Amino acid sequence: MKAEVPADTGKTLVVYYSYTGNCREIVTTLTSQIEADVLEIQPAEKGLKYEANGYALGTQLLNAIKANPNDASSYPAIDPVDTSLSDYKNIIIVTPLWWSQMAAIMQTYLFQSGSQIAGKHVGMIVSSHSSGISGVVSDAKRLWPNVTWMGDALWINASNHGNRASLIENWLKTLNFSNEGTTMDKMYITIGGQTQSVTLVDNVATRELVAALQDASITITLNDNKFEIWGSLGKSLTTKNEQMTVQPGDIVLYNGSNICIFYDSNSWSYTRLGKIDGLSGSELRTFLKAGQNNISVTLSLTKPTGIRSLPPAPSSVRKGRSFTLNGVKVDNPSKGIYVKNGKKVFL
Ligand SMILES: Cc1cc2nc3c(=O)[nH]c(=O)nc-3n(C[C@H](O)[C@H](O)[C@H](O)COP(=O)(O)O)c2cc1C
Repeated sequence: MKAEVPADTGKTLVVYYSYTGNCREIVTTLTSQIEADVLEIQPAEKGLKYEANGYALGTQLLNAIKANPNDASSYPAIDPVDTSLSDYKNIIIVTPLWWSQMAAIMQTYLFQSGSQIAGKHVGMIVSSHSSGISGVVSDAKRLWPNVTWMGDALWINASNHGNRASLIENWLKTLNFSNEGTTMDKMYITIGGQTQSVTLVDNVATRELVAALQDASITITLNDNKFEIWGSLGKSLTTKNEQMTVQPGDIVLYNGSNICIFYDSNSWSYTRLGKIDGLSGSELRTFLKAGQNNISVTLSLTKPTGIRSLPPAPSSVRKGRSFTLNGVKVDNPSKGIYVKNGKKVFL
């Protein structure tokens, strides 16, 4: 199922409970891939052994909820939570499964916050030893009935917990979360096998563009025009033209249906779309194939190639420096994904 996340979504909150640490590890992995605040739910009564005596206490807590799900006193007490959900558009629940249901402690949080969540976009990751998660999904939908569920919940169990990084990465892709966050403020431009990220501005045109790119990437043919490469986008976007002086790396909409990508400056009336991240003037000229015609340019929301596209270089050269995923050195990296000391880092 495709996520119903609009282009202008705001901040993300990851809310989790973890008794034996698996969900905590999942949250650490998740938040290395997206920008999010984290809220941990804690039981008010510390040191309880939910699994003791054949899971007697865990079972007792769940049975109490099942008997009276609309009664606040059926839910085990949790520590007070001072995070207001009004600050967040997207919420990702990370919860253990207990006896094929949502862990009782997490159910308390969902029950108590039910009045704050109308209209939010919610995703869920469930950790179990081996049991399937449909009962946890039902609990979540019962407790938070008025939210937009972002695709199916992700199930991580004991046998694939070690692969959680790729499971989470693929799941986020199906939700159309961009790797840098949830605001869909990034797209990628690929020219001649090289890919660069673009930070999009937020306006009607970029929301329309992102919506189109969620269906499929767009490949267009652009031509050189002294200070830019430009051409038809193949579709019209809503204009918000204003007189501006563009700089190298800027990307604009011209006359509603043309895209211009600049390697030099120009003054004209355009609708701003975004800017290519982190390339110097000369790197931009090379990347954009300045001076050439019939340049095939692909716009996409995800990187078509991964970290493997790094050209080989001695580790001594790379150590401590930041590179784009295509291996272009960046002296002062801003927000985005970079390679540092051979590792992917998110700034
Ligand atoms: C009270 C309780 C009941 C559980 N019931 C089940 C179960 O029915 N099926 C299952 O596969 N795992 C069950 N588990 C295991 C947890 O779902 C699993 O270990 C999960 O990864 C725990 O997440 P955590 O480490 O973040 O607490 C249960 C664990 C507890 C404490």
